[in-house]
Amino acid sequence: PLVPMRLLLDHAAENDYGLAAFNVNNMEQIQSIMEAAQETDSPVIVQASRGARSYSQDNYLRHLMLAAAELYPKIPIVMHQDHGNSPETCKSAIENGFTSVMMDGSLEADGKTPASYEYNVKVTKEVVESAHDQGVSVEGELGCLGSLESGEGEQEDGHGATGTLSHDQLLTDPDEAERFVAETGVDALAVAIGTSHGAYKFTSKPTGSVLAMDRIEEIHRRLPNCHLVMHGSSSVPQELQDIINKYGGQLKQTWGVPVEEIQRGIKHGVRKINVDTDNRLAITGAIRKVFIESPEKFDPRDYLKPAREAMKQVCIARMVSFGQAGQA
Ligand code: G3H
Ligand code: 13P
Ligand code: NA
Ligand code: ZN
Repeated sequence: PLVPMRLLLDHAAENDYGLAAFNVNNMEQIQSIMEAAQETDSPVIVQASRGARSYSQDNYLRHLMLAAAELYPKIPIVMHQDHGNSPETCKSAIENGFTSVMMDGSLEADGKTPASYEYNVKVTKEVVESAHDQGVSVEGELGCLGSLESGEGEQEDGHGATGTLSHDQLLTDPDEAERFVAETGVDALAVAIGTSHGAYKFTSKPTGSVLAMDRIEEIHRRLPNCHLVMHGSSSVPQELQDIINKYGGQLKQTWGVPVEEIQRGIKHGVRKINVDTDNRLAITGAIRKVFIESPEKFDPRDYLKPAREAMKQVCIARMVSFGQAGQA
């Protein structure tokens, strides 16, 4: 069934594991996640960005998710709005069957300009009040995503623009986190600890701790009952980069968030881990391989099946390493 996210996050907290939240835009991605969940007995968080909702159209998306719930009646599934930019976006998500919404008030409604703390509290609180009335969970965000290494919050996907703010100002402040959770009543809080969206997170192989894990630990000490969320958590595996480049792609060498860092976060209250890029890489590599190896093929199933299988393997790997496998 489709369930509120709070239910899964509470269970994850009680049992010390984390849940991957995978982004989707189409049927094949939903199928990959559900097959991975079935094979590993995992509860599921599926999320759609505003761009995903407009690409797939809300009606298709809603019915695809209902189909997943129907096909897998034993698996609890959350349908989450990723990066809602305004209370209106969250409201329309709820009207379209989402069981959880993110009100990302860390940025203004343009999705680029860092917002004031007061604005963030105002919009997030507004969403919490109406969402909770309808049994829908809410994720908020405090701090701005951006790689600690580059100092640039501006990613290729346009997420995050940090202007003249320093690293330290971009990261989530534990004092503010404490106030924010008390003032808004969010079910989950996305924290900025040095990750960024997209494939290009780090320009050299991360050694030791690349994230501001001390912040997570401090926030978790102060808010032991708050579920923490890590965005920008793709690991950007070398093998997936290699497949794409072997078959004609042109990715620049890059490094993502090591899975061990995420596992450390899970020990300190991280319950939701957002992963999109790794699945995009898996799908693209699988399709490129078919195009190069079998250029005579033109039935979309000939490349969408391997694409679906490749994404499924990424989902299985994350479900196992975050500890959600066996928890459905
Ligand atoms: O927040 C980032 C997710 O990867 C979704 O990306 O806005 O391109 O759909 P998108
Ligand atoms: P990645 O780009 O690291 O997969 O992050 C996705 C994300 O945070 C979606 O909200
Ligand atoms: Na989200
Ligand atoms: Zn995100």
